[in-house]
Amino acid sequence: MDRDTSAENAGAPAAGGDTEDAKLGHGNDRVISADEYFQRVRHPHVRGAKWAAEDWQGLLGELGKDPIRHAERRFVSLVNEDHGDLCGASPGIFIGIQMIHPGEVVPNHRHNSVAIYHYLQGEGFTTVEDVKYPYKKGDTIVCPAWAYHKHEAFGDEDTIMYVTQDMPEMAAKRTLFFEEPEGLENVRHMVQGTSKSWSATRDPDAE
Ligand SMILES: [Fe+2]
Repeated sequence: MDRDTSAENAGAPAAGGDTEDAKLGHGNDRVISADEYFQRVRHPHVRGAKWAAEDWQGLLGELGKDPIRHAERRFVSLVNEDHGDLCGASPGIFIGIQMIHPGEVVPNHRHNSVAIYHYLQGEGFTTVEDVKYPYKKGDTIVCPAWAYHKHEAFGDEDTIMYVTQDMPEMAAKRTLFFEEPEGLENVRHMVQGTSKSWSATRDPDAE
């Protein structure tokens, strides 16, 4: 049985008693049967997918020409559209392929998703919690959750990193946080409407 509490709550005092118009709830509470629960908890079937090299290379190459886009956000993501807003290659796993031009630095930042970097091309340093790791093609580095990290590319060719994170799972639980760039004033709860945009550099005032 649906229950709309909006009318009965209208005008009721808040728990603190400080606002006459405050509501005691949102009317989104509902009790359902086990049968209905198991109908709703099941999700649509997910099919396999392949992302062709020429497709991600083409878009990443275009992003690489953008003088506005800062190095920390120059990546493409391989997404399986079968799972909708669980935006990733699988419902819980993000795959990004990131480009850093020689001489660029991705500033120190952190997030509570784990990041695994596999270097497809280039050379430089990835620093995790003040420990500097040199990288070259074929290397893999892991950055634990909520650890500060930055990337510096040098040499003659772009650094290309294949990045895996558990972002979609955390986003689904509304537990994903970014601090970017470093600074507690830049912590963002990755839930729409709760903090500024994820892009501190492109639109710092956006929600
Ligand atoms: Fe990061």
